[in-house]
Amino acid sequence: MPTFQSIRRGGKTLAAAGLALACLLPVGAASQPQVQPPLVQTVGRPVQAPERRPEDLPALLAPYGLAEGEREVLSARMEGDGLLLACLRRGELSRFDLSCLALPNGRPDRLERYRACREASPELETAQVVMRVNMDLDREFYVDPVVLEDPAALDVLVNKYYALPQDYVPQLERLGNTYGSGSLRAEAARAFREMADQAREDGVTLRSVSAYRSYASQKSTYNRYLRQNSQKTTDTFSARPGHSEHQTGLALDINVASTRARFEDTPAYAWLQEHCAQYGFILRYPQGKSEITGYRFEPWHYRYVGVEAARVCMSQGLTYEEYLALQPVTPVQSALDETLI
Ligand code: DAL
Ligand code: ZN
Repeated sequence: MPTFQSIRRGGKTLAAAGLALACLLPVGAASQPQVQPPLVQTVGRPVQAPERRPEDLPALLAPYGLAEGEREVLSARMEGDGLLLACLRRGELSRFDLSCLALPNGRPDRLERYRACREASPELETAQVVMRVNMDLDREFYVDPVVLEDPAALDVLVNKYYALPQDYVPQLERLGNTYGSGSLRAEAARAFREMADQAREDGVTLRSVSAYRSYASQKSTYNRYLRQNSQKTTDTFSARPGHSEHQTGLALDINVASTRARFEDTPAYAWLQEHCAQYGFILRYPQGKSEITGYRFEPWHYRYVGVEAARVCMSQGLTYEEYLALQPVTPVQSALDETLI
C-alpha cells in the first residue's frame, strides 16, 4: 500500500462533511460536483474500528438484495464509520449508494458525486462511476482547482484538478553534469542517477533536459506557447502554472521534449519502458490516456512515485490517476459519530 499523505485540515472532517451533505439530499438527486480534495488526501488516517459490530446491521442491509461479498464489505465499513451507519439507519442510502460503498475504492465523501455521475451517465456500471469520480472526470479541467495542502508529499497528485501553491519550492539538489541539466528532490535525484548509471551500463544514455521548474518559469513557458498556439492546443502539451509536475521536483524530461524527436522509437524509450519502474519512475502521460491525464502522449516525461506504485502503474498500463482512484479506502471514522448515532 502506498503511504497516503494526510490532510492537515482533517481528512475525516472533510469526509464526514461530504457524507453529511450527501445524506441531506434526496437519493439520486442530481447536483453540481463539489470540489473535494484528491483521494490521496482524504483516505489518509486509518482508525481503529469500534469493538462492537452493530447488531442490527444484517437486518438493515437485508432489504437491499446485496451479494454476500458486498454485505461483508459494507458491514466492515459501517463498523468503522458511525456516520455512514446513521445514514443507513435513517434509510438515506439507496441500493446504488451501497453498491458504490461496497467497492473497495468507493468513497463515502464522494457519494453525492457518484449519484450525479450515475444520473448523467446511466449506461455506466457502478465500478465505472466510482472510477470516473475518483479520477475527478466528473469535473472540468482547470475549473475551481484544489490547491494542495501537502505539496511536499511524495505521492502528490498534480494535474488539471489539483494545483501546487504558487510559492511552493521543494528542497532540491542538482543532478550533476553527467546526468544532464536541472535539479530534483533528493529521492528522485538519487533514483534517476541510479537509473541512468544502469542504463549506461546497458549501452543507453539517459540525460535530463528539464527537471524542476518553478511556478514563474512554468508561467513564462506556458505563455510563450500561448503566443504561438490557441489555449486549447497549448493545454494539450503544456501545464498552466501551478499545475506542472515539474514544480514538484519529482518529474523530469529525459533526452528530448518534443514530439518531432520521436523519442518513442528510440532504444532509450524501450529501456525506460522495461526498467523505469524498478527505480520508482512512471511514464506519466501515456498514449491513449489523454482523457484522463489531459495531455497528449509525452514519451519523455517521467515522474518519481516510488517503486511500489511505479511497478503497478507500469506493469498494468495505468496512469497515476487510475492507480490512485483504484486504491482501497481506509476506514475513516467520523468525528460526528457519537452525536449522530
Ligand atoms: N508538459 C507537461 C505537461 C508540463 O508542462 O508540465
Ligand atoms: Zn515534462
